[in-house]
Amino acid sequence: MDIQRSAAQPSTAPTAIRREDYSPPAWEVPQIALDFALDPADTRVRAALTVTRSSPHDMPLVLDGAGQMPLSVKVDGVAVNDWRIEGEQLVVPLTGDHHVVETEVSIAPESNTQLMGLYASGGNLCTQCEAEGFRRITWFPDRPDVLSVYRVRMTADRRRYPVLLANGDPVASGENDDGTHWAEWHDPFPKPSYLFALVAGDLAVNASTFTTMSGREVRLGIWVRAADLAKTDHALHALKLSMAWDERVYGREYDLDVFNIVAVDDFNFGAMENKGLNIFNSRYILADPDTATDYDYDAVAAVVAHEYFHNWSGNRITCRDWFQLSLKEGFTVYRDQCFSADQGSAAVKRIEDVRGLRASQFPEDSGPLAHPVRPESYIEISNFYTATIYNKGAELIRMMATMLGPVRFRAATDLYFDRFDGTAATCEDFVACMEEAGGIDLSQFRLWYSQAGTPRVSAGLSHEPGGGRAELRLAQHVPATPGQSVKQPMLLPLKVRLFGAETGRPLTDERLILLDQVAETITFESVTERPVLSINRGFSAPIVVESDRTAEDLAFLSAHDDDPFARYEAMQQLMLDTLVAGTIHGEVKGQAVIDAVTRTLEAEGLELAFLAEAVLLPSENFIGDQLVTVDPDAIHAARETLRTQLGRALLPTWRRLYAELAQGRYVYSPEAKGRRRLRNVALGYIAASGAEDAAALAFAQFEAADNMTDRQAALTTLVSSDAPEREDALAHFHARYAGNGLVLDKWFQTQALSSRSDTGAVVERLAQHPDFTLANPNRARALLGAFGVNQRAFNAADGSGYRFLAEQLIALDRLNPQTAAKLLPPLGRWRRFDAKRSGLMRAELVRIVETPGLSKDLFEQASKSLD
Ligand code: ARG
Ligand code: ZN
Repeated sequence: MDIQRSAAQPSTAPTAIRREDYSPPAWEVPQIALDFALDPADTRVRAALTVTRSSPHDMPLVLDGAGQMPLSVKVDGVAVNDWRIEGEQLVVPLTGDHHVVETEVSIAPESNTQLMGLYASGGNLCTQCEAEGFRRITWFPDRPDVLSVYRVRMTADRRRYPVLLANGDPVASGENDDGTHWAEWHDPFPKPSYLFALVAGDLAVNASTFTTMSGREVRLGIWVRAADLAKTDHALHALKLSMAWDERVYGREYDLDVFNIVAVDDFNFGAMENKGLNIFNSRYILADPDTATDYDYDAVAAVVAHEYFHNWSGNRITCRDWFQLSLKEGFTVYRDQCFSADQGSAAVKRIEDVRGLRASQFPEDSGPLAHPVRPESYIEISNFYTATIYNKGAELIRMMATMLGPVRFRAATDLYFDRFDGTAATCEDFVACMEEAGGIDLSQFRLWYSQAGTPRVSAGLSHEPGGGRAELRLAQHVPATPGQSVKQPMLLPLKVRLFGAETGRPLTDERLILLDQVAETITFESVTERPVLSINRGFSAPIVVESDRTAEDLAFLSAHDDDPFARYEAMQQLMLDTLVAGTIHGEVKGQAVIDAVTRTLEAEGLELAFLAEAVLLPSENFIGDQLVTVDPDAIHAARETLRTQLGRALLPTWRRLYAELAQGRYVYSPEAKGRRRLRNVALGYIAASGAEDAAALAFAQFEAADNMTDRQAALTTLVSSDAPEREDALAHFHARYAGNGLVLDKWFQTQALSSRSDTGAVVERLAQHPDFTLANPNRARALLGAFGVNQRAFNAADGSGYRFLAEQLIALDRLNPQTAAKLLPPLGRWRRFDAKRSGLMRAELVRIVETPGLSKDLFEQASKSLD
């Protein structure tokens, strides 16, 4: 039979998949046996699918495949030739209700640059299947609601690939006399194809055990190249903490005898929760003080926890279809956030998470790529692994947890795990459990899943001095988003408290207000002095609050609020108001901020890490997000001016902190992290003050540091300066970490984030550096991703930043469409800029869209960004 190999990219305009078109699978695949003859250039994959007609119908079996041609097809052991290829699918007519369908294909992992399916990384072979990578390995109904029991056999060269891992438990292994060896793994838990994984390589293991709450012993292994073994203890420790935490907090126990994690250098995102065999981007496993910052340590623990928690929220209960992605991701992010909060400062963790939400999700929700937490359609599902699905999705779970309270929330998750275990569920299933066990009506709350856009709440507080009564007028507005011009009012849980302006004492208890109307007035009785409003405490709803609070009110709250988040928030709002006014009027009136920062630094009993967060100015991007038209140079100038004012006014304080917070030998603990963080903030302000010794101080820290947190902070300070030490530090850093990919990423990233005016030119030069490559996603993100969020450099008035990014993305798209598409959003901000910049940005988007052979991934992001 003469069949054309189907092209890797569709030649026709890509079509959208719609949520409303869902229908259950026509054929179930209760079992699959896979046999891999592994070879980088020619891996043979034989698959035997036990298939069952799921209901009375006369449809053929339809299997997904991408790029490969079946070498043979057998039904019940007999070769057949009545199959056909339709698009990217293999159609096999079947007469009975139960059959065994076998296929064989050849794939070439070494030329897989998309890093989806089976690919090579650092000489090892590994897989990535979520969302639709399994079809690049073999023919299969590659959708999350087809659950199968997998048996996997691998044969590979013994010396090149001494370690052979797959999902589940190892059942047998042996040697052949041709220099190969083999291993067989069996996973008793039915799972969708996106959770399939195998790894073949030359790896060393950090092994340990964990005894579960019912007394079963689980063998744990973290597999890395031998030279990296010493950097795996932190991840292993985090894994054990996660396993214990999920037992204690959710009553969830691990269910296999083995849990393995493998770290690879080439990976499209953070990590993957494959059943019993997590595969990680090495940046979220490897950590030692010399190469990883405190931020990296925290991220390793958070991602290890996240992937581990997926064993229940994702694997035991998976998603019916990809529109339900937030069912597992939103919930699992919420779980990892709570885990991290329990490891150190919950207040600082909440501040970090909100900062992240505002940096990535809010812009998405107000831009051309806005989509609901449960989207209605997609062209390429990889484009929907977004801050909205993950982080806004987590906020939805958090709001339900807030409304239910801890006891009923736990009852509701118990119900959910119990009722849907072993199935592919929907977001609606989850909400229904919250409703049932929580005893509340969530009909209106469901709009959070279907309406995109960040709700805006205006809040005005009035008080009759004699009458003792205060009135809080609230009104909500959900902005229009693409495809959703009219919105309904949402259910917004707002934690509110009033404080007395004179005494500084709370006037009321904390109240949870459920705002469900367009406008509502809340009354507070016996308010005996002028009240100041603390609202959306703990960031109880992921919204924007517009209040009529004055600079004095905000300064007051930043000193007196008893909710640490609200206290931080008041300071941020004060800073933001100052910076927005400074941007617009060209003059920065920083005294109120200076006073508030002074008071915060002098306050008793605040954690050092909290202080560090509280005194940091909002980012240039976030200031830009407040403005109708972003003027990147004016924003930069205003922010630098306020930084200088703060630096100068408090110079003795910054110097004192810098001296006092010095520590001896490096330790990783919440306390020590807080000291480092505040001390490095102080260093930044000393530099901002223009102090003559700032560069010398930074360089001395750079040279003396016994840890990456301090070294990188010093480098960051120098890289944004004109000091002669700048080049020295960069050269030292590069030489010292030659060959360490993860640290070289920092070298690229730090330069791309520099606030110097030559950053655009520097970044273009760095793209030609021998250590730069688009083939490694971490490296591409380090340079291009960082440049895209450097508001001033990227938005250079001549459009050079736009042109550079577009060229790089077009080149990257040919290798790795997913990673290219992820880096596109900065170009979609064109509506926010002046006509000249908008025109230049649009021209680059048009150029991308018109590029012949563009991937679906980049096409979807670029064409939607133009609308
Ligand atoms: N499920 C993985 C996680 O834990 C991420 C998979 C991302 N897949 C993708 N196609 N972007 O977050
Ligand atoms: Zn996840």
